[in-house]
Amino acid sequence: MLDRLKAVAPDPILGIIAAHAADPNPNKIDLGIGVYRDAEGNTPILDCVLQAERILDSTQTSKSYLGPRGVPGFNSAMRELIFGAESAVLRDDRVRTVQTPGGTGGLRIAADLVKTARPDAKVWASDPTWANHLAIFPAAGLELLNYPYFDRERSDLRFDAMMTALAERGPDDVVLFHACCHNPCGVSPGPDQWDAITDLAAERGFLPLVDLAYQGFERGIEEDCRSVRLFAEKCPEVIVASSCSKNFGVYRERVGAISVACGTAQKAADVETVIHSVTRKNYSMPPAHGTGIVDIILHSGELTALWRREVAGMRDRINGLRKTLVERIAAAGIERDFSFLQRQSGMFSFLGLSVDQVRRLREDYSIYTVDSARVNIASFNDGNLDYFIDALKTVL
Ligand code: LMR
Repeated sequence: MLDRLKAVAPDPILGIIAAHAADPNPNKIDLGIGVYRDAEGNTPILDCVLQAERILDSTQTSKSYLGPRGVPGFNSAMRELIFGAESAVLRDDRVRTVQTPGGTGGLRIAADLVKTARPDAKVWASDPTWANHLAIFPAAGLELLNYPYFDRERSDLRFDAMMTALAERGPDDVVLFHACCHNPCGVSPGPDQWDAITDLAAERGFLPLVDLAYQGFERGIEEDCRSVRLFAEKCPEVIVASSCSKNFGVYRERVGAISVACGTAQKAADVETVIHSVTRKNYSMPPAHGTGIVDIILHSGELTALWRREVAGMRDRINGLRKTLVERIAAAGIERDFSFLQRQSGMFSFLGLSVDQVRRLREDYSIYTVDSARVNIASFNDGNLDYFIDALKTVL
């Protein structure tokens, strides 16, 4: 049976990890995968996570199955964090949140849910979007198309073109949005633009599916959910796939959720049963460790306050790096304008390099990015900035 299988190339983002790890150059830089790094280049365990993990270790009494819902306190805390404790959808009990293995798990369950509800639905993603979006929806048997989003010339949003394209979408369509910190381009709609997008969703009746992978990394924990909350106010249905990988730094624990807001509490309860049947077919029962940690943090006033400070610290460091990068590139006499880096947010931006320039960075300097020249801004630090800027100057 398996003789027919041929080796496939590694996922472009994951392939970078292996290539960087195998490179003996002491000056090598990994600008590939989206993990936060501190000033020393490490991806630390957050203090709030360390403390919660100790509590979990000393209080957990069983490793028996959790059941399809997972950790109930995690689900309710996530729901409040995303939609707002005072929101009408929560007050009316119209949201169901179910933990998933990472945000990717949430996306795949969302895809299966849509496929179950409407097998011929089309999913529309921004051009460009996270590379794995391109794989997840077709893997669930859904057609994936794109709408205009990023203008490579201006390094900015193609807002008018996006609105024109979305004005043609309707009830058979699912439109995928990045709530904040767009991956890969770092460009988000502004508040007025979100107002217009969410109005359009209500008017046209397409289903918004929001990928919330970087809550807290753009403007703030509440601010970064503004689009979700507007969709939930204006539209009868919205799905959110959220991740705790970055904002709790629990990447390998695989902590995420799918949240579905519906028109009525009964519909939400019905949809939850479908989610449970879909998760049962995928992985039967969810993991407990990471969601247990987040549950403890979000139910402790002290740990929540610490977590909020730690998220703000990561956000401020990335924003500071964006500013430093722009200043240092200009100071190095590089004529090309990189000031767009400071107008963008989150871990990622495109540097606007050709595939050949990306290859030269890799081969001549051991600086690793994906071919699109998407870089993880958090990978820069005092120890590697000069080396990077010298290399950039040479390949430009
Ligand atoms: C990224 O885009 O680098 C992250 O979201 C990690 C991943 O799984 O691709």
